Amino acid sequence: MQNDRPWPQSGCERMILPSPIGRIGTNTPDPEGELVAKMDDTHVFMMGDNPALPRMPEKPTLLDFYRYRFGDITVRHLLGAAKRAFDDGRSETLVMACLLHDISNGCLLRPDHGYWGAQLVAPYVDAEVAWAVKYHQSLRYFADPDVGYQYPKSYDRFFGPDYQVPAYIRRDAEYAKGHKWYMTARLVTMYDIYFFDDVAQEVSPDFFEDLVARNFRQPPEGLGHDDSASSHMWRTMIWPNNFL
Ligand SMILES: [Fe+2]
Ligand SMILES: [Fe+2]
Repeated sequence: MQNDRPWPQSGCERMILPSPIGRIGTNTPDPEGELVAKMDDTHVFMMGDNPALPRMPEKPTLLDFYRYRFGDITVRHLLGAAKRAFDDGRSETLVMACLLHDISNGCLLRPDHGYWGAQLVAPYVDAEVAWAVKYHQSLRYFADPDVGYQYPKSYDRFFGPDYQVPAYIRRDAEYAKGHKWYMTARLVTMYDIYFFDDVAQEVSPDFFEDLVARNFRQPPEGLGHDDSASSHMWRTMIWPNNFL
């Protein structure tokens, strides 16, 4: 994608300091001291496009992030969930919520992914869509036999059968149950099937181009280059290896 443009910081070795949120608590040692000591005329910290990643278009759209940034498993999961909702004739609001529900897991943050994802998309979608993205996270943990939703078997595998949800998840699920948009978030949890439980057909991001055009307010400057409350989050995904 537009690889004729020169890469930034030419002539230098561009050092990458991983973000602490993805490193702390793992066995990966903190390389900050070592890298700082290495700085000289030809060793600098990376700022701007990283040649190890596909180059984003100058005015990125929502689906460009599915094409050029998000991990394979998340892309298949989001497209699969949205396609199932679409095939069932669900509303465009619901299909959008399914398409976006785990967007934070694509290449931003996993902890509290529903909350991060909701903030990320809120400036660009109907309030109901962002609300469903936020509350699908807590509602996933609570069965609703009236609509045939059970605690996911995959969660027993992910977290172990004795996992107890924290108080804020209980509180937020309880709140969501009494909300007028409850069924939107609940339906997201019902289309939220992991690929290994599902023989999903491959779905291309192109399939949702028209629906996204109608339901996502694409900024003319491109995501990350506008001045919304979450544009910094999109920029972080464009340049995930920036030092600052
Ligand atoms: Fe989720
Ligand atoms: Fe999901």
